[in-house]
Amino acid sequence: MTIKQGISWAREQLLNSCERPLLEAELLLAYHLQKERVYLHMHEHDEIKNIKAFELLVARRAMHEPYEYIAGKASFYDIELFVEQGVLIPRPETELLIDHASGIIKEKQITRLVEIGVGSGAISIVLARKFPNLQIIATDICDTPLRVAARNIEHFGLQKQITLLKSNLIDEIKEDIEFVISNPPYIADNFALESNVANYEPREALFGGKAGDELLKQIMVDAKNKGVKYLTCEMGYDQKSSLQVFANEIGVKYIDFYRDLSGWDRGFIIQFNKENNE
Ligand SMILES: C[S@@+](CC[C@H](N)C(=O)[O-])C[C@H]1O[C@@H](n2cnc3c(N)ncnc32)[C@H](O)[C@@H]1O
Repeated sequence: MTIKQGISWAREQLLNSCERPLLEAELLLAYHLQKERVYLHMHEHDEIKNIKAFELLVARRAMHEPYEYIAGKASFYDIELFVEQGVLIPRPETELLIDHASGIIKEKQITRLVEIGVGSGAISIVLARKFPNLQIIATDICDTPLRVAARNIEHFGLQKQITLLKSNLIDEIKEDIEFVISNPPYIADNFALESNVANYEPREALFGGKAGDELLKQIMVDAKNKGVKYLTCEMGYDQKSSLQVFANEIGVKYIDFYRDLSGWDRGFIIQFNKENNE
């Protein structure tokens, strides 16, 4: 089978499982050949070596396994991260959380940050690369994310800036904390997810409780009790009003919500206490 024929064959196999079957067929073949996609178009008439292995990759994708788990890598912000099953594939909307956090880090001259739920390391690694003077403690409750994050942190040479800690939320952190960032699990337990997510991505990274916002509320309470000044989190599109009410109940100086590029409510920034000069 030639490269041109292989792309056409794979596209057919992926018609029912992918939104963009041609693109995914090309990505899988490029991954199989360990080449860039542009190579495929310049070598259309070359024979594909080890065709059985390529067929196996296409079969996995046809069963809805995400491309990122098949290839073992995911693009995020300006970097590529190692990922595997057991670790959430970082999502484009989380890049907005980073942009909001970056504004606070710059404006308030934050030098120490805690991330709850490090996953692949996406948030902490991008922030550490943007702010070389920032020291980060990143927690997770699961072992696989901590192992994968450690690999990514080492890959980018950020071991001096990011410390990983196995912890429920911020329970194990003894130091004073100025700023907490998190993209925690926030989906309601009974929400029907698409099969590529439900069958492959880790439950611990997705589901936040019966209503979905329970862990977000616990993070707010823990942050307030630990004297954290600023908290920014990603959240579900339908959680703004319940979180606004909860923030009023526990008492915050302000809570601002932000929307994603599709216009959905997607996250918030809290300041807990008044600053000394206010
Ligand atoms: C939605 S994923 C986010 C991963 C990564 N930060 C990102 O944005 O791609 C949530 C992460 O929180 C972790 N997690 C879930 N419950 C936790 C808890 N109680 N304490 C700490 N981490 C938790 C999960 O294991 C998962 O890695």
